[in-house]
Amino acid sequence: MELRFSTWQEVERYLETSKTIVLPIGSTEQHGPNGLIGTDALCPEALALELGKETGALIAPTISVGMAQHHLGFPGSITLRPSTLIQVILDMVNSLVQHGFERFYFLNGHGGNIATVSAAFSEIYAQSSLGTQAAEPPKVRCLLRNWWEADGVMKLSRELFGEADGSHATCGEVSLTQYAYPESIKSAEMNPPIAPTGPIYDAADYRRRFPDGRIGSNPSLANPDAGKALFEMALRGIVLDYTRFSSVKS
Ligand code: NI
Repeated sequence: MELRFSTWQEVERYLETSKTIVLPIGSTEQHGPNGLIGTDALCPEALALELGKETGALIAPTISVGMAQHHLGFPGSITLRPSTLIQVILDMVNSLVQHGFERFYFLNGHGGNIATVSAAFSEIYAQSSLGTQAAEPPKVRCLLRNWWEADGVMKLSRELFGEADGSHATCGEVSLTQYAYPESIKSAEMNPPIAPTGPIYDAADYRRRFPDGRIGSNPSLANPDAGKALFEMALRGIVLDYTRFSSVKS
């Protein structure tokens, strides 16, 4: 069930059976020569929509812009500062808490969001911890899951692509978008075939170290069949994980 295609009465009825909502969260940032700028939002969104169909979970609109300051050296990349993203998450969760939602399952597509989303969760819990409402167990619970860490996905990526999977503009994520959006498949020459690796600092430094945007990957190996296998593997893990999170009592 998608929030954007629901009426308020349908949401009210949903709340009689579940207090959990899924929030896909990603990023709008360069993904190398053949990766889509929307990759990190498209992947968790596609998985979340399928999760919604399989489990009946309510899926919130995707938070498509994340913490991507290091990608700003490439046209089209957009970032929220960590402090802004924390406020976005806080306001979204607090809005939904007003209506009775208690569990927030964030399905993430971008490694650069992890620290900031975790900090946002601490801000959320601090609201009750610093007030008189501290509850044990906490009424509001947030969980962050990275789609690529769903059971078996990293192992499968490694089997499919070996070292060439890399850590940004990975073969796995590019494959997943190729499976979900075959009309948007791009091809490009990779030079060198496997991109360099190294630390991440600011945008100018990133562009110097990783001139075409990739880190450690050779996404010319990406293909829709691999994307399908990864999608199905990730979905299996996420369905189990979501079901556990939404049903555990304490
Ligand atoms: Ni990515």
